[in-house]
Amino acid sequence: MTFASVDTPVQGKEVQLSVVIPTYNERGNVAELIKRLDATLKGIAWEVIYVDDNSPDGTADAVKTIGRTDPRVRCLRRVGRRGLAGACIEGILSSAAPYVAVMDADLQHDETVLPAMLEKLQSGKYDLVGATRYVEGGDSSSFSAARSKISRLATKITQKVLGTTLSDPMSGFFMMRRETFDEMAPRLSPVGFKILLDIATATEGLRIGEQPYSFGTRFDGESKFNMQIGVEFLGLVLSKLTGGLVDPRFIFFAIVGATGVAVNLGILNLALVLHPSAGFEWAKTIATGVAMLWNFVLNNSFTYRDRRLKGLGLIRGFIGFCLFGAIGAVTDIGLASQLYVHHETWLVAGLAGSIVGVLWNYAMSSMFIWRT
Ligand code: GDD
Ligand code: MN
Repeated sequence: MTFASVDTPVQGKEVQLSVVIPTYNERGNVAELIKRLDATLKGIAWEVIYVDDNSPDGTADAVKTIGRTDPRVRCLRRVGRRGLAGACIEGILSSAAPYVAVMDADLQHDETVLPAMLEKLQSGKYDLVGATRYVEGGDSSSFSAARSKISRLATKITQKVLGTTLSDPMSGFFMMRRETFDEMAPRLSPVGFKILLDIATATEGLRIGEQPYSFGTRFDGESKFNMQIGVEFLGLVLSKLTGGLVDPRFIFFAIVGATGVAVNLGILNLALVLHPSAGFEWAKTIATGVAMLWNFVLNNSFTYRDRRLKGLGLIRGFIGFCLFGAIGAVTDIGLASQLYVHHETWLVAGLAGSIVGVLWNYAMSSMFIWRT
């Protein structure tokens, strides 16, 4: 199948617009969306960049098959990584066009508003145009009642907490000047679904326009939204609240660490009650061991979800995690004891030790255990 159209050849014409499409298992939607882009973008020199996270259903193949005869269709296949925001970031970074759009693959985003969005950007009045379901002319009735509630709640939180002017910051449908994006790229987070929110709050004084559209139903396949994505969203909001000082990934790591402390103490208590004769050292060893395993599994499932370890790597990772954890614990205890000896209160000494311990564990985990 070929979609190369006669009146908008890319060759010999500078590409004006790159449409970036993150995909995971979207094979059945590829041909239809490209066909619709071709129909709606007549007169515009465009290209489409699919960023596929090695979908098992062969989405990348479907895109490349079309790309073989249509040079406007490209596919960036990422192996060993997962994540909507990260995929969008890499797709945009691979573009050389002055304008870039991001939209979902499943045809829920109405592609016919793309020319209007481009016009708004070309007028020079805006750096970014967000497509919105929540202003006059927009519509989100195809969302389930539950999903609609979640989306509206998340929208309220972000508007209140982060003060964004976007009426639909949860949308994954927008267009912007590539130069603006290039400048802010180092400050963006690859975690989670909320790329637009991250972008809109990454630079002060961004000139933001809006484009109403009607949110459609999925053409083929199923949604990848889940609870974890909701939690990742909270991580992003918290990170933004600290002025970007704290990485969302670190917030996850710290939350997991806090649950680990609870597990550690809970098991210690249980072991002492069930087997008082075994002695404190044994109970504490078991409790710490279980807490280590708990932390490792949770970090592997949530904090470093996009770099998840599997098979042998999982065992190797756990051993490394315990070794670095042991060094972290020694540092924590050493520092706290030193401070205590030098007349700090137990609270200050204990806290300082814990903070340095957590930072150490986080740095080692990111650099050596779940490294990219
Ligand atoms: N590369 C990559 N990696 N793409 C992904 C991943 C991933 O891990 N997860 C999801 N995607 C792609 C999907 O293939 C799809 O093209 C797009 O991201 C959106 O995913 P959906 O699973 O269709 O999400 P949704 O419809 O429930 O919600 C989306 O649309 C809403 C309205 O714009 C999201 O974009 C929400 O953030 C948004 O509010
Ligand atoms: Mn969708």
